Amino acid sequence: MMRIDIISAAPDLLESPFQHSIIKRAQDNNLAEIYIHNLREYGLGNYRQIDDTQFGGGAGMVLMIEPIANCIENLLKERDYDEIIYMTPDAKTLNQSTANQLSLQTNLLILTGHYKGIDHRIREKYITKEISIGDYVLTGGELAAAVLVDAVVRLIPGVIGDEQSALTDSFQDNLLSPPVYTRPADFQGMKVPDVLLSGNFKKIDEWRSEKAFERTKEIRPDLLDNE
Ligand code: ADE
Repeated sequence: MMRIDIISAAPDLLESPFQHSIIKRAQDNNLAEIYIHNLREYGLGNYRQIDDTQFGGGAGMVLMIEPIANCIENLLKERDYDEIIYMTPDAKTLNQSTANQLSLQTNLLILTGHYKGIDHRIREKYITKEISIGDYVLTGGELAAAVLVDAVVRLIPGVIGDEQSALTDSFQDNLLSPPVYTRPADFQGMKVPDVLLSGNFKKIDEWRSEKAFERTKEIRPDLLDNE
């Protein structure tokens, strides 16, 4: 069973994504547990302050060091984490290989930032891995954390019924997926490629590899350069 703890200043944003479909079933089947911790509960003083202006000036508030440190220390009393991950745009971009690696872990702690980010000393003291989900800026790390958790949890053995399915995804072999079709075989004259109806599985495999390569070359040639 994988356990994932998420620390957030906007926990409501994380309620829905894990309560549906495959990620919900993973939790119902005891393959994953996901716990969300409200940073506000660790805020300072009567106002439960969690952010402050930045030293040196500049627009935007920064999440303060103590509430986050107190929350992390509290969680560390209960268990060790394989990784303490900070979601942030100034980090290496998430890819399938990172998702694969994380899916093998047992305890993950994910910290999401907000506003201008978090006091850098938190990153130095606690964070073992920083992940961006792409070269664009979100209002906070919550949606990014939801993306990461989804990408990781679906890879846990047993979560997706068909074991082969996760292994044949786009990116598992650094290629985009080939096109897929279902009934009807003819939609207003648009026909499904004959080979898929042929029952010749060797030919079908070859066709799929060919299409995967063609699509990758056309849409994401950078994936082929990385080989
Ligand atoms: N927080 C804000 N933008 C982000 C991004 N692109 N990836 C991860 N966390 C973020």
